[in-house]
Amino acid sequence: MKIAVAKGDGIGPEIMEAVLKIFEANRVPLEYEFVEMGKWVFDKGYNNGMTPEAKQTIETLGLLFKGPMETPKGKGVKSINVTARKTWNTYANERVFQTLHGVETVFSKAGIPINITVVRENIEDTYGGIEHMLTHDVALSRRFITRPGSLQLIHYAFELAKQKNARRITCGHKANIMKITDGLFLECFYEVAKEYPQLKADDVIVDDLCMKLVTRPDLFDVVVLTNLQGDIVSDLCAGLVGGLGFAPSANIGDHISIFEAVHGTAPDIAGKNIANPTALLLSGISMLRHVGLTENAAIIENALLYTLETGVHTGDFGDKTKPSVNTTQFAEAIISNFGKQPQSNAKKVIPNMPGTPAPFKLEKNPMMISKEIVNEKIVGVDLFIESGEQPDAIAQKCQRHAGVKFKLVNISNRGTQVWPTGSVYTNLVNQYNVRFESLDDEELNQHDVIGLYVSMSGNFKICSLELLNMWGDKRGYSLAQGQ
Ligand code: NAI
Repeated sequence: MKIAVAKGDGIGPEIMEAVLKIFEANRVPLEYEFVEMGKWVFDKGYNNGMTPEAKQTIETLGLLFKGPMETPKGKGVKSINVTARKTWNTYANERVFQTLHGVETVFSKAGIPINITVVRENIEDTYGGIEHMLTHDVALSRRFITRPGSLQLIHYAFELAKQKNARRITCGHKANIMKITDGLFLECFYEVAKEYPQLKADDVIVDDLCMKLVTRPDLFDVVVLTNLQGDIVSDLCAGLVGGLGFAPSANIGDHISIFEAVHGTAPDIAGKNIANPTALLLSGISMLRHVGLTENAAIIENALLYTLETGVHTGDFGDKTKPSVNTTQFAEAIISNFGKQPQSNAKKVIPNMPGTPAPFKLEKNPMMISKEIVNEKIVGVDLFIESGEQPDAIAQKCQRHAGVKFKLVNISNRGTQVWPTGSVYTNLVNQYNVRFESLDDEELNQHDVIGLYVSMSGNFKICSLELLNMWGDKRGYSLAQGQ
């Protein structure tokens, strides 16, 4: 089986070399095709950080094992790591955090075992990077949470929990505040939970989740989250088990998957051969399992666990009174421990069952639509306008534009209602959201909205616009604070 390998930037080539050396010593039956991705590829003028040949190879082979990559600062280019995950729809980011004996933490000292799998949504949320300055003072980021995207991820998380024999699967969210976006994610979670009655499914608000994770991490098993919250919570979990040097990551898609460490290029230690290759090795081990090379995976993982138990360590962890080894020596220590059994968490050696990857070639982009649209109607519009005037003055002007189809119902500033009621203690910025709804709940069409837009633009600069939709009785928009 052939896979694509990108060595990455900074410590990437050093830790990748160490891991491939371990694979080679264990006769892992994989062939590697090295592809050009990373900062130096940006520097060559490829704006997405990879050559067209690299893109084609990865799309043909379906599997990428990558080192960390640097995004050039201040050049307006997007992170290659995020681009790769999004372009190839690797919708589930799976990160396993487990107690590793030999890696001392407050929890290992207290005898509290940790084995948490974080499944983070990998495509949506604010990671679309869709951001605009509405006025010179006001920046807006769009946060996408979709039903098909959430269902795709949550199905994966439940399947994983089932395979792991998980005690519990928990959804982390902030649906108490973001009722529509996180509310949709949570709704999808419980919709999928119904298909898995044998699994204990519950939810915890993300701030409470963080507190509980640092006090009782042993109570959690599989945790599923949206993208940004998942990003933060997974680094928190990395801290619980000893830091980023021990955090592997698998980006799973239906056609293409990417395996990488969670940490970055560590420019401060690059080129010194002192980086810890454990996170990349653990990512590689999970890749071996993904392709059915379970025997190689178990032997290498047991050797890694044994090596850690014996106190062998790179400079970033372990007993500081004992000398550390460099990256190459760490890899050699693991190789010399093939066949040895760690005292704890030993993995069962299951014979390899390499699956031949199904040949795939997509003719067109898959379209994900989850439900038929029923009883959809436009009942109003939010106009985001620029103004430094007081709310009453804005309301007076707006009312003149309402005409026979609309009524002005509300004006808010940074999400807080300032008209028809409000408080003079609410500080204002020069951007308001003006909400018009249809008179007498009449259904509106886009021409009505354009008419209002044209009329309002005589008085205001309109920075953005959102339709207010209803699906049957379900409101597709939030109310302002105080409305
Ligand atoms: P970083 O993870 O590279 O480094 C943070 C700290 O952890 C540094 O002190 C570093 O020396 C240490 N560290 C990280 N990995 C280590 C290892 N394997 N062994 C020993 N020590 C290790 O994070 P930072 O400095 O924020 O980012 C550096 C660059 O990496 C940036 O350009 C960033 O965009 C990129 N990055 C790439 C990622 C990826 O390719 N998936 C993920 C995160 C950052």
